[in-house]
Amino acid sequence: MKPLRIDILTLFPGLVSAVLEESIPRIAREKGVVEYHLTNFRDFAQGVHQAVDDRPYGGGAGMVLKPEPVFKAVRHVLAADDRPAHMVLLTPQGRRFDQQTALDLSGKQRLLMLCGRYEGYDERIRQGFGWDEISIGDYVLSGGELGALVITDAVVRLLPGVLGRDESAQEDSFGLGQHGKLLEYPHYTRPVEFEGMTVPQVLQSGHHAEIAKWRLEQARKRTQERRPDLL
Ligand SMILES: C[S@@+](CC[C@H](N)C(=O)[O-])C[C@H]1O[C@@H](n2cnc3c(N)ncnc32)[C@H](O)[C@@H]1O
Repeated sequence: MKPLRIDILTLFPGLVSAVLEESIPRIAREKGVVEYHLTNFRDFAQGVHQAVDDRPYGGGAGMVLKPEPVFKAVRHVLAADDRPAHMVLLTPQGRRFDQQTALDLSGKQRLLMLCGRYEGYDERIRQGFGWDEISIGDYVLSGGELGALVITDAVVRLLPGVLGRDESAQEDSFGLGQHGKLLEYPHYTRPVEFEGMTVPQVLQSGHHAEIAKWRLEQARKRTQERRPDLL
């Protein structure tokens, strides 16, 4: 199977590559299940200054991303591979990213993500392509790069063989495992006692069925206390 191709269009490729070159995103690339392609859409801008932004019609604060360089860059990147791309526009106005979306995106052949900056996009950029508009939360970032990295990280750790045990992604919070959306149970490692706090007896018992029962109870309790909306 071909690796998932992820294209990220950004004005700050160095910011993005720094994160992709560490930890799980890097391991996923080294295992050959994903490939990353970063494109600076300033390279597609005209003129000595290669301006990618301009003042808004109608006045107001801030600058707006111009359509020409973005259209050129997107078309150039799309033509680089014949697989159909799922196109993600990073915007605080999009649908909220969650674990189910990460799972859906991990099943695509190709993702193309466009990172905005300044006041955002000229509306024709939105209209010009079939975007899946995604927000990573109800707050405003300075640019889409952190959003694209959040999505990339959440997606690539779901690709087969990336995590040590494939099940570990299923047991995570918001799990996609058999018990549905629950926050994960508490974890413990050695020592058995630390500053008066001890590891629950059941986890030391080696009794797998009892441990599984305890973990499920804890996950339900935790979800009830912290995120009852998930139940
Ligand atoms: C300063 S923001 C522009 C916000 C825009 N003026 C608005 O109110 O919708 C610049 C860029 O950061 C990115 N961005 C900001 N917040 C985001 C969020 N919560 N999720 C995804 N992308 C975000 C988008 O790419 C956006 O175009």
